Amino acid sequence: MNERPIVLMTHPLPAEWIGNDLDGFEVILEEGGAKGIQGKLQEYLPRAAGILCLLDDPLPESILNSAQNLRVISSMAVGVDNIDIAACTRRGIPVGHTPGVLTDGTADLTLALLLSVSRLLTAANNDAREGRWAGWNPTGWLGADFNGSTAGILGMGKIGSAVARRLAGFGCRILFTNRSSKPELARELNAEQVDLDTLLIESDFLCLHISLTDETRGLINGEAFQKMKSNAILVNAARGQVVDTKALLDALQTGQIRAAGLDVTDPEPLPPDHPLYQLDNCLITPHIGSATYGTRRRMAQIALNNLRYGILGKKLEHCANPEVYIP
Ligand code: GLV
Repeated sequence: MNERPIVLMTHPLPAEWIGNDLDGFEVILEEGGAKGIQGKLQEYLPRAAGILCLLDDPLPESILNSAQNLRVISSMAVGVDNIDIAACTRRGIPVGHTPGVLTDGTADLTLALLLSVSRLLTAANNDAREGRWAGWNPTGWLGADFNGSTAGILGMGKIGSAVARRLAGFGCRILFTNRSSKPELARELNAEQVDLDTLLIESDFLCLHISLTDETRGLINGEAFQKMKSNAILVNAARGQVVDTKALLDALQTGQIRAAGLDVTDPEPLPPDHPLYQLDNCLITPHIGSATYGTRRRMAQIALNNLRYGILGKKLEHCANPEVYIP
């Protein structure tokens, strides 16, 4: 008897997004995610041919050790810091991810956070609802000017560039850091590639768009906040762990920086009693950068394609460790 390849899914997806894509596979849903080897994951991992996971499912080497028949991991995310990529590569397991399709959605959300925080939208909305809108007030709810401000982009990849283009359209002067040099982009946006210190010292708005790696973990720490302007606004739509949460809390409480808009936090989810929620100068959204109808659907499609291709031994559409294909 021909057994159907087993696919382990860590979260349900709408049936209309899946369509026929998983026909021919035995789909096992472990709704608890891959938070440890337990439940269905423990039972089916040794026989699973593919895992379809999300960005908050940790997949360390210890889990891979139990997955002797695994042919592919497909994550419905662009960032793959939750997966031990080196261990997958050593085992010849391709890791699929979904770059590109979430660039605009995440860039839009970055701007939404920056505009909301810089123009005090939460406070203004609350004041209006709660009876503190007494009339037009010449000095009420004053926020930052975009035109003429300096925006610093930390990480000029796809999303960083899309944010830079939007901010250039708002009349900002653009500074950026990036591992490789990007002279064309600098020319196109009349931007300047600088070192990290210059970015921290000169930015009125600092937008983080780097991946989480050993080098970037905790990069924005107490020392970094000391270098920033007191009117600076930080926006993080990358990964929470790039910022030292305790240092951020101090910086916001002491006025070392003016405000922050965070779509990602450390830890995630941020518990409801966390002191960051108590601050008027901090706006937090629950990691929704890619949360538009079109974007999430496209991400799911790529993730399903990657999964199928991996199980069938074909090259993935988007592979985070293309070294696996080098013989
Ligand atoms: C979102 O953060 C992603 O990595 O897809």
